[in-house]
Amino acid sequence: MSETKKKSALRSAEWFGTQDKNGFMYRSWMKNQGIPDHEFQGKPIIGICNTWSELTPCNAHFRKLAEHVKRGILEAGGFPVEFPVFSNGESNLRPTAMLTRNLASMDVEESIRGNPMDGVVLLVGCDKTTPALLMGAASVDVPAIVVTGGPMLNGKLNGKDIGSGTAVWQLHEQAKGGQISMHDFLAAEAGHSRSAGTCNTMGTASTMACMAEALGTSLPHNAAIPAVDARRYVLAHMSGIRIVEMVNEGLTLSKILKRENFENAIRVNAAIGGSTNAVIHLKAIAGRMGVPLELEDWTAIGKGTPTIVDLLPSGRFLMEEFYYAGGLPGVIRRLGEGDLLPHPDALTVNGKSLWDNTREAPIYNDEVIRKLDTPLIADGGICILRGNLSPRGAVLKPSAASPHLMAHRGKAVVFEDFDHYKKRIVDPDLDVDENSVLVMKNCGPKGYPGMAEVGNMGLPPKLLARGITDMVRISDARMSGTAYGTVVLHVAPEAMDGGPLGIVRDGDTIELDCANGRLHLDVADAEIQARLAERAETVKAPPRSGYQGLYIDHVMQADEGCDFDFLVGCRGSAVPKHSH
Ligand code: FES
Ligand code: MG
Repeated sequence: MSETKKKSALRSAEWFGTQDKNGFMYRSWMKNQGIPDHEFQGKPIIGICNTWSELTPCNAHFRKLAEHVKRGILEAGGFPVEFPVFSNGESNLRPTAMLTRNLASMDVEESIRGNPMDGVVLLVGCDKTTPALLMGAASVDVPAIVVTGGPMLNGKLNGKDIGSGTAVWQLHEQAKGGQISMHDFLAAEAGHSRSAGTCNTMGTASTMACMAEALGTSLPHNAAIPAVDARRYVLAHMSGIRIVEMVNEGLTLSKILKRENFENAIRVNAAIGGSTNAVIHLKAIAGRMGVPLELEDWTAIGKGTPTIVDLLPSGRFLMEEFYYAGGLPGVIRRLGEGDLLPHPDALTVNGKSLWDNTREAPIYNDEVIRKLDTPLIADGGICILRGNLSPRGAVLKPSAASPHLMAHRGKAVVFEDFDHYKKRIVDPDLDVDENSVLVMKNCGPKGYPGMAEVGNMGLPPKLLARGITDMVRISDARMSGTAYGTVVLHVAPEAMDGGPLGIVRDGDTIELDCANGRLHLDVADAEIQARLAERAETVKAPPRSGYQGLYIDHVMQADEGCDFDFLVGCRGSAVPKHSH
């Protein structure tokens, strides 16, 4: 491509490419940062979309990460411009980071479209930052590459490894059951999070990092290199080089995010024992790109796929071991060799196919990345459940569930919301045993609001004390990817949106049948209709003010990815109007 042609093809030339009043204004103010004139003469301008924040501890090392991306961009002849966007930190943000995933995606979309950039590097880490940035970038459709911050080193307690999040759930139950002291519980805090990075279990952050890599939106190995490993910074540097090439090649996100890539990601999610949150986030990303994706695709594509990554919460190891064992390329190689990769030819950001990137990937440890014939779980797909209790679907993660509970009939113990649950679950007189089904309402997208990760309700203390470790739990909430149990989540429609979950009463019989994808409330149809009518009269919606009001009015249900109705689709990168 000739220099002149390249220059005129650049999107940023619409800002910096003219010798008139507008060009003067766009360039002049930028020059106050000490930028020489030649930087504006046709170099690809690369945004570095940074979710750095000291309140998002998982992304707190991102300034250093951005510096290494910049080195790569400069080396390749680009002009890096770093900009901040809303940062969703899972650990601090109340009432749940999910409430602001869509807000962040709007910030990302408008920041990219409204500003002079030809391509963008998406710096992501903590759970929601990955879908938020991919959703926003997809709606603009410029060349984009994901650089993940990487997982924390293994947590340590009393000389043993402990996994992010998963250890908290376990230690808390042990403290409540009296098996460990409160002193030990509190002592675990520091060793649990001892380096920069995201949760080191196969929780939602690691899952979404794997999804970004499986979708083809990052360079190989992006998902697993530990945050503090020097090779993470090499990958950031190489991604900086690559994004400049992508701009020159016109390799936009819509050329990568095809239906085929999503099908590969769904298969990979089963192989890694990934988080249920991926169901919601992949749907939302696909929606921005106009790619059709349905809950049943998770059954059709994922079912029967063995989970071969032996990581907590489903298995034994952590992300550090996963990287040392060969990382995601090793998993994809195993799938491909077993004819389990639906679309080996799917394109990725480095211009090669997913299979080209992985066919010779070394695997160093068959315990961590198991062979297909010795899987951790024979069928690791996400189980989609439909029935009169979840007409628009619900999900369950079989690899985190107890096999003996996956076909179960039991009497409901109902909690009207999370506060009611917290109050009632500790009642020593609560009529509950290990065969009961714990049902919680009003924790969905509109009900909580924000669909918090409270679906893995802790068990009644009196049952914990008896050594009971799992029960069937059902709600319209989500659960952390680090959590486990026979937990039915994402029931749609949610209770607050008129879903039948809202009319379940104490003592109703509920049937869970994972093998047949069924969730049934054993109450006569007429009775269900009568209760629904009665409930519509009495239900109290949460206050609609500020951003929360916008959220409740526009959030779609879990089966639709919880995006805002008005954000679905790709709106492109054109901005015909000038600002002056
Ligand atoms: Fe940020 Fe888990 S809390 S990745
Ligand atoms: Mg999480």
